[in-house]
Amino acid sequence: MITPSLDACGAFVSYLETLFALSMNDLHTMINDFHGDMRTGLSGHEGSLKMLPSFVDKPTGREKGAFITLDLGGTHFRILAVQLDGKGGTTVLGTRQTAVPRKVMQGRGEALFDFMAEGMDAFLTKRGFERTRTYDLAFTFSFPVEPTGVSAGMLIKWTKGFTATGVEGKDVVILLKEALRRKGIDCIRVTALANDTVGTLMARSYRDPSCDLGVILGTGTNACYREKCAHIARLEGAPPEGFMIVNMEWGNFDKVRRTCYDRDLDAASVNPGAMPLEKMVSGMYLGEIARRVLVDAVQRDVLFLNAAGALKRFKRKGSLTTPEMSLIEGDDTSDLAGVHDFLKQKGVSGSSIEDRRLLKRLCGWVSGRGAGLAAAATAAVVTWMDPELKHRHTVAVDGSLFEKYTRFSAKMRAVLTDLYGKKADNIAWVHSRDGSGRGAAIIAAVAATASPQGPGHSSKANFP
Ligand code: GLC
Repeated sequence: MITPSLDACGAFVSYLETLFALSMNDLHTMINDFHGDMRTGLSGHEGSLKMLPSFVDKPTGREKGAFITLDLGGTHFRILAVQLDGKGGTTVLGTRQTAVPRKVMQGRGEALFDFMAEGMDAFLTKRGFERTRTYDLAFTFSFPVEPTGVSAGMLIKWTKGFTATGVEGKDVVILLKEALRRKGIDCIRVTALANDTVGTLMARSYRDPSCDLGVILGTGTNACYREKCAHIARLEGAPPEGFMIVNMEWGNFDKVRRTCYDRDLDAASVNPGAMPLEKMVSGMYLGEIARRVLVDAVQRDVLFLNAAGALKRFKRKGSLTTPEMSLIEGDDTSDLAGVHDFLKQKGVSGSSIEDRRLLKRLCGWVSGRGAGLAAAATAAVVTWMDPELKHRHTVAVDGSLFEKYTRFSAKMRAVLTDLYGKKADNIAWVHSRDGSGRGAAIIAAVAATASPQGPGHSSKANFP
């Protein structure tokens, strides 16, 4: 049995703990820097926050209609049929969800859009949609898009592991329409293009006027909020007294202190240099950061000194996932039996209780930093709208990290309380389930209200 050098071990553990900790000063600096980059983005200058206009404002709650929504943004592709009742209520009448295979995410753009058109064809057939009628479709495409109107926009750059060729720089609505045409589908009219954050905000604010922020904490991370049109420099000609939802693309915020683990992860990613904040916060990356720390600790003889197979099992990229981290952190038994079983299943035998405790702490440092950064980013947006935190702000949130990761939301709340004390109660995070899909329908309805056909015209196209 090999015993670790306690001094070396203790020093490395405290080093790691400090490395991932966020001080009050770090958080305040981040909030200030965020405000600076929001200002730059809104003024139309190049900055880390793109601040993209959505061309819609919050709904009134009276929008009506029946819409199909198509949602592409991460590991899954979803189609929904949504009915809005005009009284703040939404009903999902049908849904279809499929995993997006890696070869589709990273193949040819045309094949990716054909994949969506095939899904749509199967959905229409299964649900008995009449092909002779016309149905309005809202397309939730959760990547940075430079919008040119409510139903048109150009993909700036892929994120979240997508690399499909021939899409960057193109109007994604045109690519979708072409794919639908190739598949012989002509009963669909694309009336809105949305980001998932905007959908999430819309879905909640349809029935809750205090909602002015939409946040995604899932495979990726991002937020949108309500801004005065007068502050959005690139919106020439918009009524200055009006408001519009702005998609921030906050995952690209770059004034964050990165560790060597973050830098290595970035270098090995498909988009080096891009999305620094997303790579420290979101579900696609947390597991991978923790894995890199784990491997370093094993190589330094600090972890799993007497446990066979650890290095081999965790050497491969992706071999520790974010849901697995959540499981490790969620084990509250005194002997960490759940962590023990998890390690055994991974092929690591003979872990000591100290190993398991350290592994759990390590996951907590990485996820705690992610939650702290997400909380500071949210605080920055809220205080941009309301510097003294005088009003109540409902933040609609969706995504697996928020919904499922052990204590992630509790950690975010604790950071807000550290920052603002009692005033933090004015910021309420609420889970907006399926927000991006249901919300896209609301965007289409808001767009229809402004269209020459008048409000609710699509409600005539009742669904089967
Ligand atoms: C990525 C995308 C962004 C999206 C977010 C959450 O950051 O660039 O558009 O909102 O992921 O899905």
